[in-house]
Amino acid sequence: MAKAQASFTCTACGASFPKWSGRCDACGAWNSIIEEAPLSSGPKSLGAKGRTVPLTDLSASEPPPPRAASGISELDRVLGGGLVPASAILVGGDPGIGKSTLLLQAAASFARQGLSCLYISGEEASAQVRMRAQRLGLAEAPVRLGAETNLRDILTTLDAERPRLAIIDSIQTMWLDSVEAAPGSVSQVRAAAHELVTFAKKRGVAVILVGHVTKDGQIAGPRVVEHMVDTVLYFEGERGHQFRILRAVKNRFGPADEIGVFEMTGSGLSEVQNPSALFLSSRDTPAPGAAVFAGIEGTRPVLTEIQALVAPSTLGTPRRTVVGLDSGRLSTILAVLEARVGIPFAGLDVFLNVAGGLRVNEPAADLAVAAALLSAREDIAIPPDMVLFGEISLSGALRPGSQTENRLKEAAKLGFTQAALPRGSRSGAASGMRLREMADLTAFTGEMFGAG
Ligand code: TYD
Ligand code: MG
Repeated sequence: MAKAQASFTCTACGASFPKWSGRCDACGAWNSIIEEAPLSSGPKSLGAKGRTVPLTDLSASEPPPPRAASGISELDRVLGGGLVPASAILVGGDPGIGKSTLLLQAAASFARQGLSCLYISGEEASAQVRMRAQRLGLAEAPVRLGAETNLRDILTTLDAERPRLAIIDSIQTMWLDSVEAAPGSVSQVRAAAHELVTFAKKRGVAVILVGHVTKDGQIAGPRVVEHMVDTVLYFEGERGHQFRILRAVKNRFGPADEIGVFEMTGSGLSEVQNPSALFLSSRDTPAPGAAVFAGIEGTRPVLTEIQALVAPSTLGTPRRTVVGLDSGRLSTILAVLEARVGIPFAGLDVFLNVAGGLRVNEPAADLAVAAALLSAREDIAIPPDMVLFGEISLSGALRPGSQTENRLKEAAKLGFTQAALPRGSRSGAASGMRLREMADLTAFTGEMFGAG
């Protein structure tokens, strides 16, 4: 018996349901479930005979796919060493963050390396893209340009041109005449992405899909596309900051969690080869409330400054404002400080911020967060030549983590001379840093701020 066709989909997380409800059971979003036309795929009855699928051994020796490097090393790093032929890549990000700029620069770069490259814009007219290219100094790059939203026409064109790379900007503007829904709806986005990914695999054309993400989920998020593609990159950053981070959240052909760092300038995005220096560059005199976290982003150590401000609150429920870190993590650390070390933050507003607009997801940032909070609260500055890292467990113990050596080496390279880290971290003696290993948060508080 055929299963009932689910025809309601959450625009926030992509989960599907057999009936509508006001709140998505999967992700908890409100008003995000919409009806969609059922997919008309699959054999009508399984009695019909299919063809046999050709099978191979695991040992079948195929040379690793040759990768094409763009020459933009921050981009190549995030792709895992270059573009894999016939792969499908999604580049997501807030509108206006710089996706089109990045991909136009990438297209020009790939084209200059001899990779035939097609850029299809569904958002801008060709003249607008050309104007942008001129401003970026890319006008003479051999990129073929098209402005179209009808996917059938685009696929026909791709089939005729057979480029090695096709960039579709953006997937939300594409529409298939066989799907009865507005462009940007979940059904259209999913169907269009499916067609393009299938085309990529069949014809050996790498495709890059641009997808806008909005916080309120008004436009069908690229979430529904994520599982179809090989690689998912997110382009993030704070609008007010010039720094942009390209982050691999999924990559079938390379390490996930790798980041590339760019700076938005008047003439497009420029690469930032040494992000630590950049994220710390605004440091001047040591101030209470700042702690330098020696983190790892992908395969690379990155130093960032964690900043905290603690002030008496006038509100019944004190403020907890976090930028660049998980707010749940802040609550946990505040609770551990109160319950295990005896330092309460009740009645105090807490503001926490990662300098430079980077987003830090590593649990090893805990110690630097706690240090910044304590430093702000006690009004005692942390030595300016110190880096910190270590995960805090609910008992208040500091848990040794990974890549101690790499973190310390990067810190030493940037002129730091001492590090606070969990006891039992595999020694980083080679770095020449003064190591202050501590077993728990109480020991840390006692040593750094002279109180428990
Ligand atoms: P864009 O690539 O159009 O964003 P997206 O495709 O993600 O929507 O980038 C638009 C922003 O980038 C716009 O606010 C202006 C800024 N920008 C620069 O600062 N310098 C430049 O050289 C370019 C092309 C854009
Ligand atoms: Mg754009």
